[in-house]
Amino acid sequence: MSVISVKNLIYGYSKGTPFEKGALKGVSVDFRQGEIVALIGHTGSGKSTLLQHLNGLLKPDSGDVLFEGKSIYESKKSLRDCRFNVGLCFQYPEQQLFESTVYKDIAFGPTNMKLSDDEIKKRVYDSIKYVGLSADYLEKSPFDLSGGEKRRVAIAGVIAMEPKVLILDEPTAGLDPLGKNNLLKLIKDYNEKTGNTVIFVSHNMDDVAAVAHRVIVLSDGELALQGTVDEVYSQGEKLAGLGLDVPEITSVFIELKKAGFDLGDTEYTINGAKEAIIASLMKGGAV
Ligand SMILES: Nc1ncnc2c1ncn2[C@@H]1O[C@H](COP(=O)(O)OP(=O)(O)OP(=O)(O)O)[C@@H](O)[C@H]1O
Ligand SMILES: [Mg+2]
Repeated sequence: MSVISVKNLIYGYSKGTPFEKGALKGVSVDFRQGEIVALIGHTGSGKSTLLQHLNGLLKPDSGDVLFEGKSIYESKKSLRDCRFNVGLCFQYPEQQLFESTVYKDIAFGPTNMKLSDDEIKKRVYDSIKYVGLSADYLEKSPFDLSGGEKRRVAIAGVIAMEPKVLILDEPTAGLDPLGKNNLLKLIKDYNEKTGNTVIFVSHNMDDVAAVAHRVIVLSDGELALQGTVDEVYSQGEKLAGLGLDVPEITSVFIELKKAGFDLGDTEYTINGAKEAIIASLMKGGAV
């Protein structure tokens, strides 16, 4: 079942000025209940713009956004329902933190949801722990934290609302390898423990392969490709043509093909590559 669908979304920035820029040019896509979806695409392809439509932060010039089958623009109530159930963590977490303490920042969403004080407190303590920070952080000012810590606090604030759809725009950007692995684990955990949908943007194809069930590729404001990791990653040349960093194995195979050793462009794992090379050698192939 689709939890969010977008239908033929068109959106432009700076309309009616010389800087007018068509950022989404008719995108239709479904996000299903319980899946982890990675959104990829070169810089400026419209990923952040699309995500900001999913909880009604941006309003399309035309097209529609459906949350659980109902247009989020149908009434004030439907937009509110969507805002409480679709939690978006911005690309730059600084844009999200504004309270005087980390506690107040994380409590902001649950407070708006009019939960009881006890429930709010429980959610704040649970979510700071969930993102790997100790409760000592709760009394600090968010502005005194490092970039990675700010990102984690911003994520905790979204998770505290226990959204049915958790959206993370480039959550691993700027994190060290340990922080990055913890974050990928958090994505998997949240999805497995709650059964909720997670949508995230990443420029790292290996990170995407590690956690995503499905991949959506945007290019210049249009949907270029979508499918399972296997289906999308096996189209190495097409991905390279879209300006994406293909997995290392894929780029080796693309270069081999150019040099006259065609082993296809569908392998992206070391094991797959090994098998393809062995199969070709057994056939007395060109390698
Ligand atoms: N506030 C804005 N005003 C004007 N143009 C904008 C604004 N935000 C984005 N754009 C333009 O809209 C297009 C889509 O931008 P968007 O930020 O959605 O891309 P993105 O895929 O998220 O890129 P990145 O990988 O760099 O984060 C780009 O051409 C961008 O320059
Ligand atoms: Mg972006």
